[in-house]
Amino acid sequence: MTGKTHLKADILLPRHVAIIMDGNGRWATAQGKRRTSGHRAGAEAVRKAITFARRNGIEALTLFAFSSENWGRPAREVNVLMELFMTVLKREVGELAENNIRLRVIGDVTGFSNRLQKQIRIAEEKTAHCNALVLNIAANYGGRWDIAQAAKTLAQRAVAGEIASSDINETLLAEHVCLADGPEPDLLIRTGGDIRISNFLLWQLAYAELYFTETLWPDFDDMTFAAAIDCFVRRERRFGLTSAQIQQLAGSDNEHED
Ligand code: IPE
Ligand code: IPE
Ligand code: MG
Repeated sequence: MTGKTHLKADILLPRHVAIIMDGNGRWATAQGKRRTSGHRAGAEAVRKAITFARRNGIEALTLFAFSSENWGRPAREVNVLMELFMTVLKREVGELAENNIRLRVIGDVTGFSNRLQKQIRIAEEKTAHCNALVLNIAANYGGRWDIAQAAKTLAQRAVAGEIASSDINETLLAEHVCLADGPEPDLLIRTGGDIRISNFLLWQLAYAELYFTETLWPDFDDMTFAAAIDCFVRRERRFGLTSAQIQQLAGSDNEHED
């Protein structure tokens, strides 16, 4: 995976970018094609986004590929999406490993066929040692499912006597939602023009910067990605504090660096 676009090294990039890859169907329909050809074109855009993230030193990239609600789509479309997921996993795993990219799937994988579950396991195992970029694919994922599964685990631990129910707080719950072992998403990008979260990482996005673009996912390229990052780096993240406090903190950080 090689390419040319590099971002300037001196700006503070997001460590973790999450993307709602939306607009495949509309992209295809606009060209008089079936929706499923939009999903195939979308898979190419996924390659570009991964290459961009890897080249620019982003630590984690989380892509929403299939939501828990997407099962409700016509069976033909769901079948094509499952087959595409399978094909892409098989085809790309070698190149991911070569590029030191670790692949993980988040979501309720038990909803997939045994064949697909096996392929997911193989891809995760083959890239388990990689550490230049963590690529999380959210498949059969829902933010509410994620919070519910974390709550269930905590309840089981309480029943087993490992924790007291009074121990349960935000910190402990945060340790049991998906992606708990890495930085929270700094930037959420949604393509396709709709301004909503669609049950993506509800817990983890609490303080992410949100960026919405009209670009349909198959048209997403280095320029669109760079535009989102450019917007991100110009924002002031305050985390509930005042602007003056944030500037003071940034000032004292710079002093330590000198
Ligand atoms: C996103 O594109 C891909 C999936 C949800 C699987 P869509 O298929 O939702 O495309 P639109 O939003 O209908 O154009
Ligand atoms: C969100 O897109 C899910 C994925 C991108 C996988 P949808 O197309 O399913 O979301 P809605 O229906 O517009 O909210
Ligand atoms: Mg959509």
